[in-house]
Amino acid sequence: MGIYRDRDRQREYRLLALSDDVRDLSGRQGRSELTDAISRHIVELLAPGSSARILDIGCGDASLLRILEREGHQGALTGVLPSPEEVQRLVESLALSGSRIDIVLGDTEKTGLAAGSYDIVIVNGVLHLAQPDPHASLLEFHRLLSRGGTVFLGEIPDRDEFSHHAQYTSAIDYLVHQRSPREFASGAARVARYAFTRRPFLERQSTVFHATPTVFQGMLEAAGFDDVSWRRQGASEAGGQVVESATRWDYTARVRSVS
Ligand SMILES: C[S@@+](CC[C@H](N)C(=O)[O-])C[C@H]1O[C@@H](n2cnc3c(N)ncnc32)[C@H](O)[C@@H]1O
Repeated sequence: MGIYRDRDRQREYRLLALSDDVRDLSGRQGRSELTDAISRHIVELLAPGSSARILDIGCGDASLLRILEREGHQGALTGVLPSPEEVQRLVESLALSGSRIDIVLGDTEKTGLAAGSYDIVIVNGVLHLAQPDPHASLLEFHRLLSRGGTVFLGEIPDRDEFSHHAQYTSAIDYLVHQRSPREFASGAARVARYAFTRRPFLERQSTVFHATPTVFQGMLEAAGFDDVSWRRQGASEAGGQVVESATRWDYTARVRSVS
């Protein structure tokens, strides 16, 4: 039995559905002002026509769809979430505000929605979470789009963001590398629990999807997209300053017209 357990991101989001604050469904450690800024940034970039049918897969607390609804968007607004707990929490919250946004249960590889029924598919901050088969997800986005439709894929890391994290070879190695008496004391408590139960006590990110822009462009083209463009992910932080990500990129691509 090792000292690591794999971090289960799907489970984390299911648990966030128990939070009193529905905005926690978007993760980001509850920084809802950041989610707002990111959502607004995407809406401005895509500038959808008022009748466009819009699908947001892994929609979190639906902040992006809510912005469009507030602005009087006329076309369909649909969100997808991967667990019944998240769906129920969000549906209840939207009902309270009299929203017409539709939320369905599904995941990036299988949404169960009809082919060709959306003009824009948005998938922001989702694909890097444990995905067994990103190609299957890209094919699903392609299937859902109408001819000439646009996919937006946001916050795709270009490298393993966790590779620089210390990897300890044993419980002793872990203790030796603690940097302060305080860290050592809490580390020792973890190790003591491990000694008695043999349960792993450190978390490790598993199968985090990442791809450089040229590699990801190739993946999008292989799934039937063209006109691929990308830019560093950036969002207005509180205070209006635009901060560009060092590791993450936003992509747009269009369904390839039949050749
Ligand atoms: C960081 S949040 C991003 C939320 C929202 N898109 C945004 O940008 O504010 C990640 C979202 O991805 C969803 N998610 C995780 N795994 C997923 C999967 N396999 N299929 C669809 N959504 C998934 C989570 O439930 C959560 O809503």
